[in-house]
Amino acid sequence: MENKKNIVLCGFMATGKSSVGKKLAEIMGLEFIDMDAVIEAEEGISIPQIFAERGEPAFRELESRMVERMMNRTGLVISTGGGTVVNLRNIANLKSCGVLVSLTANIPTILRRAGSGKERPLLHAEDREERVRELLLKRETFYSQADITIDTSSLTIEEVAREISNCITSIWK
Ligand code: S3P
Repeated sequence: MENKKNIVLCGFMATGKSSVGKKLAEIMGLEFIDMDAVIEAEEGISIPQIFAERGEPAFRELESRMVERMMNRTGLVISTGGGTVVNLRNIANLKSCGVLVSLTANIPTILRRAGSGKERPLLHAEDREERVRELLLKRETFYSQADITIDTSSLTIEEVAREISNCITSIWK
């Protein structure tokens, strides 16, 4: 893990990747990149629109291409989308250019933080709790491949960012 120049945040929806990423970048003096925001800016449409108009596979393709582009960059805190690492090639690519940090949270916390869930097409379900449970089950083996895992359920954004910063500083020293 030594000498890796990026910090990559992965994990389920609403575990705090974007907010923590922003804070962490500030603490560590690195540039922050939110992959979902870059995809939306480049495509000129929102993620729910990409899902609705082009389908999930088209979104996954954009995501994987974005991961490949990140591999040539250094000095970044990268916040991935919740499904980015549900793909072994993306995991290998992300690990080759940074420390992969997984943020987790318990189901009530995820549901609370997700709010209405309007901007997250995979949470458009009659029984949202059941959908979250199903997806977590399918995805846990992917998230567990991260180098560091932090349960954010009872922590503030600042506390999570500080904890990651401390871990990374000891890894990179
Ligand atoms: C997704 C998570 C979303 C976004 C898209 C798909 C997923 O990002 O990439 O809606 O598959 O879990 P967040 O994790 O930031 O909500």
